[in-house]
Amino acid sequence: MTQAGLPRRQFLTQSAIAASAMFAMPSIVRAATLQKELHVAAIGVNGMGWADLSSVGSHASVRFVGFCDIDAARFVTADAAFAGVPHFADYRQLLADLGDKVDAVIVSTPDHMHAPIAMAAMKLGKHVYCQKPLTHTVWESRQMRLMAEQKKLTTQMGNQIHSNAEYRLGVKLIQDGAIGKVREVHSWVGVQGRQYCNRTDRPADAPVPEGVDWNLWLGAAPERPFATGVYHPFKWRDWQDFGSGALGDFGCHILDPVFTALEIRSPISIEAQNDGTTSEVWPGPETVTFEFPGTKHTVGSTLKIIWRDGGLKPPAELAQLPDGAELPGAGSLFIGEGGTMVLPHVARPLLYPQSKFANFAMPDVQGRNHWHDWVDAVIAGQKTTDGFEYAGPLSETVQLGNIAARLPGTKLEWNADSMEIKGHDDAAAMLTKNYRSGFEVEAVG
Ligand SMILES: NC(=O)c1ccc[n+]([C@@H]2O[C@H](COP(=O)([O-])OP(=O)(O)OC[C@H]3O[C@@H](n4cnc5c(N)ncnc54)[C@H](O)[C@@H]3O)[C@@H](O)[C@H]2O)c1
Repeated sequence: MTQAGLPRRQFLTQSAIAASAMFAMPSIVRAATLQKELHVAAIGVNGMGWADLSSVGSHASVRFVGFCDIDAARFVTADAAFAGVPHFADYRQLLADLGDKVDAVIVSTPDHMHAPIAMAAMKLGKHVYCQKPLTHTVWESRQMRLMAEQKKLTTQMGNQIHSNAEYRLGVKLIQDGAIGKVREVHSWVGVQGRQYCNRTDRPADAPVPEGVDWNLWLGAAPERPFATGVYHPFKWRDWQDFGSGALGDFGCHILDPVFTALEIRSPISIEAQNDGTTSEVWPGPETVTFEFPGTKHTVGSTLKIIWRDGGLKPPAELAQLPDGAELPGAGSLFIGEGGTMVLPHVARPLLYPQSKFANFAMPDVQGRNHWHDWVDAVIAGQKTTDGFEYAGPLSETVQLGNIAARLPGTKLEWNADSMEIKGHDDAAAMLTKNYRSGFEVEAVG
């Protein structure tokens, strides 16, 4: 029973119905609802899953009701911190068995299973915290946004740096006009798309370790045999069937303050340059140029954002750095009408030229707890700043970049409203993928 004396499910259903109204309620009313207990299930409990569940679980209102992992050996850390939580290997079983006992779900599995799991949970009315990139394909990102909207759920993508003081300060500086309107943005990261197993061919099969359910790990992906040290854990990132390359791994972090600050949503064209790729793994060092419609924060009718990875960086002179200074290993360079801003990943933003900003008073911007903000918003029936209505288009953009990466040298023209890539059937086919039976993602009707 809830504090209001309602059965738990009835309370949460009524909360959901009232959710849209609550966005407009005075804060004193919302504060009262924050006392309720939230029943959470965590799917993928090690690696980033541990960071997510321990951070969500440090909220006083959270009680875990289920842990799910395909690898029995990987429950140990979660169990040591939260004893007695029932275990599942299959997320479908967890959702079926726990039913109304679950209010909200954390999804921290490899990328290819974000959408099958999160969509199944949202269809049942569960609020979702889902790791980045939100999904493995463009079409999935659109379905996630539509499902969250249709079911009026409180969602958050797991690009937690969105809530850090450094990124929030960078956003404020751009929106306050510290460097004037923005002409162009360059973003980069040192890692490259295939660096964890450093191979382009499938390895020979090997025995599946005891306690690992390889069929469930593959989930929606086409069948292939297990191999040691190339997929589970962590190294799946290199492979197109499971991961999303360097752009997918870091784009939702590094492009996030660019999206928030400039209020951009969907590119109109995308073109990639790289060393070529196979149908198995992501390319090595790449440059991806996105063109967006201009906004009130930008100069002109369009804005270019140029992404680089694998050690490629923008020309340092664009930043107007002082002698001897270098661009950071990862981050974004905003080029404005009245100066530049370098926003390292992750450190405080820097404004150039130094002479102009020597006496600039940096505003005081505090960081927030990304995970607790989601919990608080779920309980209060509010939205987050990184919900799927925002994270969906950001992840669509990142995965459009990955379509371009598989067709280097081809400029793709994207119509976000109709979800069409103009005149390019091969690219259009990559907007979605085939699902293995039992792990499909349904279109939102
Ligand atoms: N936000 C960040 O800073 C950050 C950092 C690292 C990873 N990530 C993201 O987190 C996700 C997981 O990455 P990782 O590095 O932790 O991977 P990982 O392979 O190291 O760990 C994933 C965990 O999920 C489990 N798992 C795999 N498939 C599962 C399934 N179908 N059902 C239930 N459990 C399953 C694994 O056994 C493992 O415990 C990825 O989407 C990645 O992009 C985000």
